[in-house]
Amino acid sequence: MCGIAGYVGPRQAVDIVFDQLRRLEYRGYDSAGIAYLEGDHIEVMKRAGKLSELGRLVHDHPAQSHLAIAHSRWATHGGPTDENAHPHYDAYEQIAIIHNGIIENYMDLKEELAYRGHIFRSQTDTEVAAHIIGEEYSKWGDLEEAVRHGARRLRGAFALVVISKAEPSTIVCFRNASPLVIGLGQGENLLASDIPALLPYTREVVVLEENTMAVITDGDVRVTDSDGRDLAIKPIHIDWDLAVAERGGYEHFMLKEIHEQPSVIRNAMAGRVDEKGRVRLEQVFGEHVWTEIDRVNIIACGTAYHAGLMGKHLFEKLLRLPTDVYYSSEFRYGDPVLSQKSLAIFISQSGETADTLAALRLCKQLRIRTLGIVNVVGSSIARECDRTIMTQAGPEISVASTKAYTAQVVVLTLLALHIAQVQEVPGIRVDEWVQALHDLPAKAEAALELEDEVIDAAVKVGNMPLCFFLGRGADAYVAMEAALKLKEIAYIPTQEYPAGEMKHGALALVQPGVVAVVGATDPAIADKVTSNIKEVQARGGSVVAITTTEDQIVHKASEMTIRLPNTGYDFLNALLSIIPLQLFAYHTARLAGCEIDQPRNLAKSVTVE
Ligand code: F6R
Repeated sequence: MCGIAGYVGPRQAVDIVFDQLRRLEYRGYDSAGIAYLEGDHIEVMKRAGKLSELGRLVHDHPAQSHLAIAHSRWATHGGPTDENAHPHYDAYEQIAIIHNGIIENYMDLKEELAYRGHIFRSQTDTEVAAHIIGEEYSKWGDLEEAVRHGARRLRGAFALVVISKAEPSTIVCFRNASPLVIGLGQGENLLASDIPALLPYTREVVVLEENTMAVITDGDVRVTDSDGRDLAIKPIHIDWDLAVAERGGYEHFMLKEIHEQPSVIRNAMAGRVDEKGRVRLEQVFGEHVWTEIDRVNIIACGTAYHAGLMGKHLFEKLLRLPTDVYYSSEFRYGDPVLSQKSLAIFISQSGETADTLAALRLCKQLRIRTLGIVNVVGSSIARECDRTIMTQAGPEISVASTKAYTAQVVVLTLLALHIAQVQEVPGIRVDEWVQALHDLPAKAEAALELEDEVIDAAVKVGNMPLCFFLGRGADAYVAMEAALKLKEIAYIPTQEYPAGEMKHGALALVQPGVVAVVGATDPAIADKVTSNIKEVQARGGSVVAITTTEDQIVHKASEMTIRLPNTGYDFLNALLSIIPLQLFAYHTARLAGCEIDQPRNLAKSVTVE
């Protein structure tokens, strides 16, 4: 959620960190600020609201500075105001800091500091950290030592970036649970909470490990552990195309990301299937692990949780492997039944979701085997799981997740097929599944070509007061994800149900004007779903059905149908149906004039519990 940027080098530092903040806008924020060295003092500019507010300040106060740090804030302690925006000074304005995460013991520290006469200008935990590090600075007279000793007094998950007016060419940062990445340049160095903010400047990056810190100047980056021992720097080369992280001609990132799904499916499979139609995931865990596991627990939040439900469907149907799916926030305190033979799978686009990370750490403490399915290279979940399969979907910028979901489900499918191979599960033709997966990108292209029909449906029903999302089997799980998309970007209330469950209560909500979007992609149960469609229509509701080109039954029963190519597998049909459903949410939101890529109240990466 909060974004961090930093620059030291010969160029105009303020302009560069402002540009970096723009590249982090997708994370969601409610205020932003910059601190830079000018003459013998640190100048701070900050504003609540959109970056354009800060941009006006930057424009009106042209700065001559070669070192700057910047932050976009998503309020946790104290509202989104100018005062609460970062950067914050210490008590003597000798240092300025920005911070991601939460300082858990800030109330105690604040009391202690107030007792010693400190006065605070904001309600934030960050300003408390600034005063603590300021005190250490007065004691040590050295920024690196001050940050090191200051960080020891702080509890919680945080990334801190600090500058001092007495050390005008140095940025010091400390990472504890919140991500920090250093960009290595020629005669200049950068810092960010996320890789896309570095890409216009460098492709050589160093991901800071847990509990380490870095001292950054224009010509040097030194990384140490929290006791000051030097650590070797391991730069990684990022070969993402910068255009991948930009909109590429689409009106919104969300639309661009929906349209990327054919290649996302290909990329998720890349290097994981061979020409004989076998799945190659043997590097993940050895055979003995796959033959030993007797239960899978999938742990995730939001869209990733919905992908997990698809995983459960497949693991149980294909492998008869008992699988539970938990919301990460519930797993931790829910006292789940775990065994040493189980496998815990953590699904996360960002790899930084605090609840998922906390659940992962719990499993590690309990010595349960852990596997990550993660999109962001070098993220905490990717690094901390015993093994991780990267979804390889490229950066997802829109707050509403689309392509990450598809990539997660494809990886779960490959995983199920790999286990089927190792366990020699009878009756499963892995090669035929793999062929269907190979054919899926072309079918996803065909699904995208239905966009005009989806727009027609959105025009006809878009101003509905309530939208049901219904389905049976895998379609019911996709319905949950489709409903999340509509509510988060179009702000339309939804009810999502297995279709057969409607008559047990929710049907009472149906009346003229209410819409039901019905997933009916499994030809085997088309007649059952049709009965549910009739139940809705009989009470005045309208139906948009997603079905296959071969279907006649559902098509005849519904007012509007979107007909997808049949993949030959009900599971893959359901997965494919997410494409028109994402488009339906997108166009409904667009027609209503909603701010699609950054919906209200939401942030891309939820790094607080
Ligand atoms: C919805 C959405 C969220 C995320 C959830 C988990 O469109 O994006 O529900 O899926 O916050 O995030 P990750 O996958 O980063 O752990």
